[in-house]
Amino acid sequence: MSARDPSPESAARAAQLRDILVEANRRYYGDADPLLSDFEYDEFLRELQALEQEHPVLATPDSPTRTVGHAVSALFSKVRHRQPMLSLANVTSTADLHAWQESMAGFDAGAEFAPRYTIEPKVDGVALELVYEDGRLTVAATRGDGMTGEDVTANVRTIRGLPRTLPDGAPPLLEVRGEVYIGKPDFDRLNRELQERGKEGMANPRNAAAGALKQKDPRVTAERPLRVMCYGLGEVQWGPGAPPSWSAARERLQALGLPVAPESLFHVAAGIDEIDRVVLALQEHRDDLDFEIDGAVVKVDQYDLRRRLGARSRSPRWAVAYKFPPREGRTVVEDIVVSVGRTGALTPVAVLRPLPLGGVTVTHATLHNRIEVERLDVRVGDTVLVIRAGDVIPKVTKVLRELRPADAAPFAWPDACPVCGAAVDAAEGEPLSYCTNLACPAQVKGRLAHFGGRRAMDIEGLGARLVEQLVDVLGVHDPSGVYRLTLEQLAGLERRAEKSAQNLLAQIDASRTRPLARFLYALGIHHVGESVARDIARHLGTLERVIAASAEELADVPGVGDVVADSVVRFFEEPRNRAVLAALAEAGVAPAPEETRDTDGPFVGKIVVFTGNLERMTRDEAKELIRRLGGKATGSVSKKTDLVVAGPGAGSKLAKAEKLGVEVVDEDEFLRRATGENA
Ligand code: IVH
Repeated sequence: MSARDPSPESAARAAQLRDILVEANRRYYGDADPLLSDFEYDEFLRELQALEQEHPVLATPDSPTRTVGHAVSALFSKVRHRQPMLSLANVTSTADLHAWQESMAGFDAGAEFAPRYTIEPKVDGVALELVYEDGRLTVAATRGDGMTGEDVTANVRTIRGLPRTLPDGAPPLLEVRGEVYIGKPDFDRLNRELQERGKEGMANPRNAAAGALKQKDPRVTAERPLRVMCYGLGEVQWGPGAPPSWSAARERLQALGLPVAPESLFHVAAGIDEIDRVVLALQEHRDDLDFEIDGAVVKVDQYDLRRRLGARSRSPRWAVAYKFPPREGRTVVEDIVVSVGRTGALTPVAVLRPLPLGGVTVTHATLHNRIEVERLDVRVGDTVLVIRAGDVIPKVTKVLRELRPADAAPFAWPDACPVCGAAVDAAEGEPLSYCTNLACPAQVKGRLAHFGGRRAMDIEGLGARLVEQLVDVLGVHDPSGVYRLTLEQLAGLERRAEKSAQNLLAQIDASRTRPLARFLYALGIHHVGESVARDIARHLGTLERVIAASAEELADVPGVGDVVADSVVRFFEEPRNRAVLAALAEAGVAPAPEETRDTDGPFVGKIVVFTGNLERMTRDEAKELIRRLGGKATGSVSKKTDLVVAGPGAGSKLAKAEKLGVEVVDEDEFLRRATGENA
């Protein structure tokens, strides 16, 4: 490399390139209105890099070659820390915390020694050093081996919420240390997005943060929701008025706009009792925070005391990490079973080699749903990472493929309900699959409670407690059992007087003739909510017709799509459901048919075709109107057609109608006839 002085032309060109690139970055990251194409950007960047390589004096510290917006070849060059970045000694019990605190007192016997302690969260992320020179962020580096880290400046400059420049009055040299992390909601969102794009999700927020920090292209980092929490200092030229303690320094950092632990999570304690209390409170509330913490860090607050205490080779004596019980561990999948929940949803569960985690032994972890099983490609015999976050059920977050036994077979998703053997409703691309059986033992309580619900069959009194009793004591195993209950049985139930049993029977009896729409909704057919149930009932009128309807007929119902139609057909095809429906009919359940159509009026028995654009209603609404008026809307014009309603843009159908001599009216005329108004 030549160290020749650059020509004035080169210097001017370098300055120009810098300006262009800085502006391009500003537009790219700030305005979402890029100035340059990626190709142009890279061309300019390469030219500037070449110039700077030839003439290193042209390479300003904030040159875009070192900053945001591009892949810098020397991105991960080494950075030597001015002061070593030490680690922390860990303790895992309050007894060890006490021992640490006492050892310090013993270490410095004699001189006056009255420490205060700061307590703050131990954020579970990646350690980072930020160097601000003359108020500008010039270097950001990972911890590396403690002496030398990697230069991740370009990536760190993309982190929103981290100042690139500090306000006036900032120390000329300020080295700040902190943790880079990704919050829990951001992590979930990021993982969802990655998965939607067909990429592999990440096991935990820490890995996600580490991955984002080590991106070759800072534009990728810029899309990751990284945050920083500053927890300490490296070398600082405070000048006069240096803060005497971490708690004071923290306030100075905050005033400079640097992110530090929020007030509510930062405590100054006088003695061990208070330390205990704060640390345990943090542990108890770790799940309430929107970022992962794996412990609490307790530090002597005063810098003069810290200096007297000094450090061991890897960690200072003046600080300690109280680690919470780990919640992530590694174990082996011994089996994969699919369980059926109260709603009929099939939930895959990994049976694990027992793993102590966060104070309990974990033996099962949820795999959520079929798509997750496919995404993880988890197999019996796999070694997996398992995370247990608070009261949430443990879950498998990652499969360690390298440790997979050669004979591990892909998991085969069941096509029948593992509890009752009924058909499973699993629409393409939908994460959840459901058992369709009304009488599935795994779902009987959930289904009964739904069946009797206020918006369904509206059986007052058929609440959760009674459902429990009906199933557990009286052996009811599907909705038809409700209609065979006797006064004797009900009055015999615990805490039920005869009067209330009578009331309940009256309620049950009254529900026998609820409208068809309610009955359909009460069946709990997947995808059939109240409004779809109403549409189907209105359109088809009787239960017999609904049961007999083909998927095509159902899909013709306005408001019903293919997925719903398939689900309904599958439900009524299931022999177990047919048996329950027969038992319901036998028990006198006869849903009231829906009033479906007029029997008198201008459209009764008429076949109508719509063509062209309708302006006052949708095509579906028009068809529904015809149906209610007793007619039928069809798609093509023939000799049988009685009327064609033609709007603007009508084409071949209109021509055909004219050819066949079929009456043609416009939308207004159609509406006049439909509403019975005179022209
Ligand atoms: S103080 C010499 N405070 O934990 C003291 N560290 O296990 C240096 N960490 O490398 C660390 N939150 O990456 C400190 N509030 C906090 C912290 C914290 C997270 C990380 C840090 C450090 C590691 C040590």
